Amino acid sequence: MISHHSTLYNVFVVSFAQNNAKVAVLGASGGIGQPLSLLLKNSPLVSKLSLYDIAHTPGVAADLSHIETRASVKGFMGPEQLPECLKGCDVVVIPAGVPRKPGMTRDDLFNTNASIVASLTSACAKHCPEAMICIISNPVNSTIPIASEVFKKHGVYNPNKIFGVTTLDIVRANTFVAELKGLDPARVTVPVIGGHAGKTIIPLISQCTPKVEFPQDQLEKLTARIQEAGTEVVQAKAGAGSATLSMAYAGARFVFSLLEAMSGKQGVVECAFVRSDVTEVPYFSTPLQLGKKGMEKNLGLGKLSPFEEKMVAAAMAELKASIKKGEEFAKNFK
Ligand SMILES: NC(=O)c1ccc[n+]([C@@H]2O[C@H](COP(=O)([O-])OP(=O)(O)OC[C@H]3O[C@@H](n4cnc5c(N)ncnc54)[C@H](O)[C@@H]3O)[C@@H](O)[C@H]2O)c1
Repeated sequence: MISHHSTLYNVFVVSFAQNNAKVAVLGASGGIGQPLSLLLKNSPLVSKLSLYDIAHTPGVAADLSHIETRASVKGFMGPEQLPECLKGCDVVVIPAGVPRKPGMTRDDLFNTNASIVASLTSACAKHCPEAMICIISNPVNSTIPIASEVFKKHGVYNPNKIFGVTTLDIVRANTFVAELKGLDPARVTVPVIGGHAGKTIIPLISQCTPKVEFPQDQLEKLTARIQEAGTEVVQAKAGAGSATLSMAYAGARFVFSLLEAMSGKQGVVECAFVRSDVTEVPYFSTPLQLGKKGMEKNLGLGKLSPFEEKMVAAAMAELKASIKKGEEFAKNFK
């Protein structure tokens, strides 16, 4: 009986804390921003939802505000309204920026998205330096180094609070493995490490739970499909953009995990692209234990198969170049 009581008490404490989270979405009117904002509005974990974009936020906010859930919704448009949007935020999610068209790599987005991320994170550093920053905008392999350098410039950098959202790679890996093995995808967990572009996306099928085995040729095909799954969507959308609905789902999953961990839930683990000492490159995605102050513990690579070790080695040059490109950009950004 005593344990029952303490469980009830914990539930009460957790939900009380969670209900007070203020979350901002920057780029809220976009293909990802709108469904992501819908999922956040639908969650009891969020009490205030601040929606920022350079266009259409009054309409998106008015629309979402009629949903019968507790979160109060406010729209902010244009840079002069950004400080008010960010004030008091616990978590900021950033899906602002242009998406890929067929034939483009994520790095082709650099010229446009680098300055968008630099200016938005600079506002975060000024107006909510303590918030968790979750960046969806591509190329993630460069935008996380950019955000980190911007926070350093403002003297408020905390590597445990800046996350490159790679959750969609995990979501895809879980789905594809489940399809091939006839499993319930909700019960499959595949860690995906490295970065978020082509060969730098490294699914660790050998660490999948439940344990699964594939012949080498099938493993290679599955790995390549996970790495190129974004391109599958870009091609199917034929010029109308990249993944938005599955990305909104994945972004919401990451934010919910973070909010739960911030309010005291134990054992919350998500992969994300973060500042890291695990390999020779300064940013790398691995499973992370999340807690009240963001990344609590980097759980590292775990045991890799020889095939996975080779992929990690093969990703290093591209990761290094993308990280350096982001850092250089941020140094020259005013
Ligand atoms: N991390 C991932 O796994 C992943 C997956 C899919 C897409 N993405 C990336 O997410 C980004 C957004 O994709 P999308 O499909 O939603 O694009 P979109 O064009 O539909 O929406 C982008 C939104 O950003 C807004 N925006 C542009 N500049 C802004 C600024 N300075 N401040 C605030 N808002 C601004 C636009 O007005 C628009 O509403 C792209 O960079 C895309 O590559 C990442």
